[in-house]
Amino acid sequence: MEHNSVIEQMRQLIQLIAKHNHAYYVMDQPSISDSEYDHLFHQLKALEQQHPEFIQADTPTNKVGGQALSKFESVTHTVPMLSLNNVFEEDELLAFANRVEERLPNQKIQYDVELKFDGLAISLWYENGVLIRGVTRGDGETGEDITQNVKTIRNLPKILSSNDYPIPRLLEVRGEVLMPKAGFNNLNRHLKKRGEKEFANPRNAAAGSLRQLDSQITKNRPLAFYAYGVAQCIPDNNIGTISGNLDWLKHFGFENYDHWVVDNIQHAQKKYEQLIAERPNLSVEIDGMVIKVNSLEQQKQLGFISRAPRWAVAYKFPAESKTTEIRQIDWQVGRTGILTPVARLVPIFVGGTTISNATLHNIGEIHRLDVRIGDKVEVYRTGDVGVTMNSSISSRTQLDFQMAV
Ligand code: IVH
Repeated sequence: MEHNSVIEQMRQLIQLIAKHNHAYYVMDQPSISDSEYDHLFHQLKALEQQHPEFIQADTPTNKVGGQALSKFESVTHTVPMLSLNNVFEEDELLAFANRVEERLPNQKIQYDVELKFDGLAISLWYENGVLIRGVTRGDGETGEDITQNVKTIRNLPKILSSNDYPIPRLLEVRGEVLMPKAGFNNLNRHLKKRGEKEFANPRNAAAGSLRQLDSQITKNRPLAFYAYGVAQCIPDNNIGTISGNLDWLKHFGFENYDHWVVDNIQHAQKKYEQLIAERPNLSVEIDGMVIKVNSLEQQKQLGFISRAPRWAVAYKFPAESKTTEIRQIDWQVGRTGILTPVARLVPIFVGGTTISNATLHNIGEIHRLDVRIGDKVEVYRTGDVGVTMNSSISSRTQLDFQMAV
């Protein structure tokens, strides 16, 4: 066969496979049957075996399911991955907006309001539209190369395609890897059935799945990626807002959750209140909202202070709470032989974790709270550490909770 026609055939197969991948992984609408897809894949593989000298850089055949790694390589981020300052109250949010407005006198300021995903930040590199590298945030300066693992994430484009926009030479996308609630519950059900240890919450499950040295394990975990920014684009896409960039990413097959552009900070506060109400119905875990100055030019003018941007803030949600019931009170023997009373609860999923035990500390505490079997209690999960609080509805006093894992 002529060299050119081999290459041409390979290119055609690669493009076809990319098109069907997009339909399957991104649009969730398979365009051919599995066996037809396998046939295309094998055709390409056979050609590559016959002519290894012509293997194309973007071939999908070496994508997923390579050898397990012995360790992750470390990669220095070209653009550091910084963190956000947190606010918890409306006053603090208004103070953030005042600081922004003072530095941009007489300018119209719009804010882009996004969900604060409770997962893991990663950076994705695309060269000429091909996903070549995925890196964890790490300490913000240096992360771990998890390319083989990110290639298994279904809703993340491995090859960029767009009918409307040219494919950039270099594109670095930042976003969060999450395990949606439904997938997390399924995974835990499976683990339990097999007698394996369950994950405490979707965030831990996402972290544990992403840091597997064997990408075959990651491949079977229901992970999803949501983009929240563009760190580099060459040539420049000339889109001057963060919201515009998020919409632009959608054209290449990236999924991003809803985001909203508001004209003033009061509207951001309204959105925050709405989101708190909608939070339990969302398919993913969020721990707040992120508010960003929408104009990239204004972002540049505001710059950074220490390790966080002046142009954005994370507005955290108050601890989520739910009501459950005390089923039983047991005595637990500690390592030092001390007896501690423990309330056994009807298990409840709150703040991303199932809670089924609460320590009652000592008998004095039981009397003070007047805790009884059958009492209704309110369970809170505060912050992202393992300690949770609860206040008995009848006595309105707080109890410390142990995690149920
Ligand atoms: S923007 C320079 N947007 O929050 C700021 N971060 O504390 C870059 N996160 O490490 C971050 N949802 O893991 C941004 N919509 C969102 C986010 C988000 C979650 C996480 C991210 C980051 C941390 C910052």
